[in-house]
Amino acid sequence: VKSVDLHPTEPWMLASLYNGSVCVWNHETQTLVKTFEVCDLPVRAAKFVARKNWVVTGADDMQIRVFNYNTLERVHMFEAHSDYIRCIAVHPTQPFILTSSDDMLIKLWDWDKKWSCSQVFEGHTHYVMQIVINPKDNNQFASASLDRTIKVWQLGSSSPNFTLEGHEKGVNCIDYYSGGDKPYLISGADDRLVKIWDYQNKTCVQTLEGHAQNVSCVSFHPELPIIITGSEDGTVRIWHSSTYRLESTLNYGMERVWCVASLRGSNNVALGYDEGSIIVKLGREEPAMSMDSNGKIIWAKHSEVQQANLKAMGDAEIKDGERLPLAVKDMGSCEIYPQTIQHNPNGRFVVVCGDGEYIIYTAMALRNKSFGSAQEFVWAHDSSEYAIRESNSVVKIFKNFKEKKSFKPDFGAEGIYGGFLLGVRSVNGLAFYDWENTELIRRIEIQPKHIFWSDSGELVCIATEESFFILKYLSEKVAAAQETHEGVTEDGIEDAFEVLGEIQEIVKTGLWVGDCFIYTSSVNRLNYYVGGEIVTIAHLDRTMYLLGYIPKDNRLYLGDKELNIVSYSLLVSVLEYQTAVMRRDFGMADKVLPTIPKEQRTRVAHFLEKQGFKQQALAVSTDPEHRFELALQLGELKIAYQLAVEAESEQKWKQLAELAISKCQFGLAQECLHHAQDYGGLLLLATASGNANMVNKLAEGAEKDGKNNVAFMSYFLQGKLDSCLELLIKTGRLPEAAFLARTYLPSQVSRVVKLWRENLSKVNQKAADSLADPTEYENLFPGLKEAFVVEEYVKQSLADLRPAREYPLVTVSKQWAVGNPVTTHAGQHITTLLDLEDDLDNLDLEDIDTTDINLDEEILDE
Ligand SMILES: *[C@@H]1O[C@H](CO)[C@@H](O)[C@H](O)[C@H]1NC(C)=O
Ligand SMILES: *[C@@H]1O[C@H](CO)[C@@H](O)[C@H](O)[C@H]1NC(C)=O
Ligand SMILES: *[C@@H]1O[C@H](CO)[C@@H](O)[C@H](O)[C@H]1NC(C)=O
Ligand SMILES: *[C@@H]1O[C@H](CO)[C@@H](O)[C@H](O)[C@H]1NC(C)=O
Ligand SMILES: *[C@@H]1O[C@H](CO)[C@@H](O)[C@H](O)[C@H]1NC(C)=O
Ligand SMILES: *[C@@H]1O[C@H](CO)[C@@H](O)[C@H](O)[C@H]1NC(C)=O
Repeated sequence: VKSVDLHPTEPWMLASLYNGSVCVWNHETQTLVKTFEVCDLPVRAAKFVARKNWVVTGADDMQIRVFNYNTLERVHMFEAHSDYIRCIAVHPTQPFILTSSDDMLIKLWDWDKKWSCSQVFEGHTHYVMQIVINPKDNNQFASASLDRTIKVWQLGSSSPNFTLEGHEKGVNCIDYYSGGDKPYLISGADDRLVKIWDYQNKTCVQTLEGHAQNVSCVSFHPELPIIITGSEDGTVRIWHSSTYRLESTLNYGMERVWCVASLRGSNNVALGYDEGSIIVKLGREEPAMSMDSNGKIIWAKHSEVQQANLKAMGDAEIKDGERLPLAVKDMGSCEIYPQTIQHNPNGRFVVVCGDGEYIIYTAMALRNKSFGSAQEFVWAHDSSEYAIRESNSVVKIFKNFKEKKSFKPDFGAEGIYGGFLLGVRSVNGLAFYDWENTELIRRIEIQPKHIFWSDSGELVCIATEESFFILKYLSEKVAAAQETHEGVTEDGIEDAFEVLGEIQEIVKTGLWVGDCFIYTSSVNRLNYYVGGEIVTIAHLDRTMYLLGYIPKDNRLYLGDKELNIVSYSLLVSVLEYQTAVMRRDFGMADKVLPTIPKEQRTRVAHFLEKQGFKQQALAVSTDPEHRFELALQLGELKIAYQLAVEAESEQKWKQLAELAISKCQFGLAQECLHHAQDYGGLLLLATASGNANMVNKLAEGAEKDGKNNVAFMSYFLQGKLDSCLELLIKTGRLPEAAFLARTYLPSQVSRVVKLWRENLSKVNQKAADSLADPTEYENLFPGLKEAFVVEEYVKQSLADLRPAREYPLVTVSKQWAVGNPVTTHAGQHITTLLDLEDDLDNLDLEDIDTTDINLDEEILDE
């Protein structure tokens, strides 16, 4: 790849190749979108002219070609030079391109004048490798040549304005610094050096050494404070553009680097190598932005500091997750390139950190208040205090902008964390120190990424690469231990913290509201944690960073990398209520409750239930289902009954019936079973309690509702055999009816068999005919006559059947009332149908007239 270019609006990278092809890649989808087979010689130069939809190429066949990248048509082609074309520069506003060549010339072409050559720039004495137009003065351009010089030219003057000399070998590449503050050029050469030039006083202000081979490309990034250099040594080096410190060396193993392209307004940088091309994204992922508790947001757009005020939005309607229409105010530019911005707790100051420096500004006017060098800066819980990490071993604490203490933590300082206690990370883990006297409070074996303290200082979240922990800080125990020196080891105060929970989620950003920890996770969820429970507020469609929570708005605010601000609603009353519950402060909870809107009550109730406060949950919930469940669990029959009445759900009645039975509330149970139409249950209840009346009602009700089995059984239990028979007939169970009659009601057999025959004849005459009616075939039914007599007799005794609930009225003979004060007399029938059947089986028909079926002692015994 001999040259690369980035399209200003499309996600396209243009690459021209040594084999004669030119490609356009979509770097978002990583697909090849267009190819131009330009020629079979190297194409060393290719540029987009976005305003014309063109790609312009220059090749070793000395031809300039112009293609329309939409139609892929070649718009124009002409011989531009008498040797290889090395570079093309497109004028930002005029219809011009500049070309440079091994013929030592630079030429200006005007496409509005039929691509005529309007000027030739002569002066170099070797190949002209690169030309670049000054972004601050479009009339000026600079050229790099293998004659070891850099020349600066004016459009309109064919001789150079001046020449910069200093490289000891051929110069391959050149670029202008585009920031307003410095008149700088950068160059790279075969002497392996990179030089920074002040083109006003024409001196070399800096030489960057490091590349091990010819330097082939250089770039001042148009926005980030970096210099990018590429070399035939295969590496790309990133240097700080003010300090000239080497920040990073990139080696992708793609052989020699030939070209680099960066773009204003983008962090993408395109690189071309012997073996291909690469797009890298430079800069920090996390935006430098911070919000104070009043909704004033400060962020850095590159070096420019800007402010947006949520209050200024007025009453504009806000939707969850939608970008907020914020007016942005410029606050001026920062002397360092901000990597982080952080308000202090009371919001009066902001600290900007970057490039190993920090500056504390007043938040209102961005006036600097203090500054210094530091690897890291953290605010204390107390707004006037902060700490800096000066090196890997020294931490300094400041109060009211004055250094209060400098100390060397025992195992070094690889990171510091602000908040209620000062956290210091080392290879050994995390150590918490008292801000006041830097006494060790507790050492914890953990490698934290972030630490978030709640406002009260009672709770702290320690987030690691894999999970996060919620700890309770026991300040009384700490105070006691400090007093008595008991329970203090070399790792600090043993009882200083209590672990409340660990959650397997990776926290990206977080904050506390009361006892609720709100965070964004690595999978782009917006969640909060309270009392061991995780509540998801939203699924985010991209990485977002929490800025803060404004209780007055009931909203959470988040920002993204592009400095868009969005918000999500989260009711402060809910958070306050949950916080109160976690603290077992039900007085407070009750005060907060009325401010929670009805539609949120059930959510709160579920939270209460999970915390084990079912009674409170029942009081709070507005969801009938949830309330019914709770009422059942709590055995609250009345409430459950009311809910069942309202819901008219058989399922609820059934559940309630069960509960009623378990509570011996049979009346209620009966009603519930009735509502539930649970006839089986009713039958069980009625028989178990010996309630004949109920069995009777049940029989009638069941029959009406077509619950035939229950109806049959209920009639049968009452000895109402006629009803049983009629039920069977009515329901078309004629064979069963016939057998019932044959067994219990012989006088009815004839009638039923007739019906049976009739019916059967419709489908099978032969089968119908083979059914014998006992009155016609008495011979086939021996003892039928006697059976009629028994039937009459038994009918009588069945009518006398007494249910168990009448037991108290029953008198039995003295001998059965041993130790029983009840006076008794014999002669009562206490029996069941089953007993009766047994009786009948054993009955000698001949004795019928003479034998009264009095229950004697034996039967009772059975
Ligand atoms: C040039 O190389 C590219 C990438 O290897 C390839 O896709 C293309 O077909 C080649 N073009 C010619 C003309 O060989
Ligand atoms: C160089 O350009 C400046 C304007 O930018 C002009 O004033 C000056 O005369 C030029 N010098 C030469 C030698 O052309
Ligand atoms: C040229 O200007 C730079 C600042 O851009 C300064 O550091 C340097 O000393 C100046 N050199 C001369 C020779 O005036
Ligand atoms: C560096 O440039 C010189 C010409 O100045 C050239 O001879 C040499 O081959 C180049 N180095 C590499 C590694 O290509
Ligand atoms: C702070 O402000 C003063 C003037 O108000 C200025 O001289 C100084 O350079 C500034 N320092 C930083 C680091 O911003
Ligand atoms: C006749 O018998 C059939 C079953 O074979 C039954 O479905 C139907 O209800 C009966 N009809 C009457 C009038 O009983």
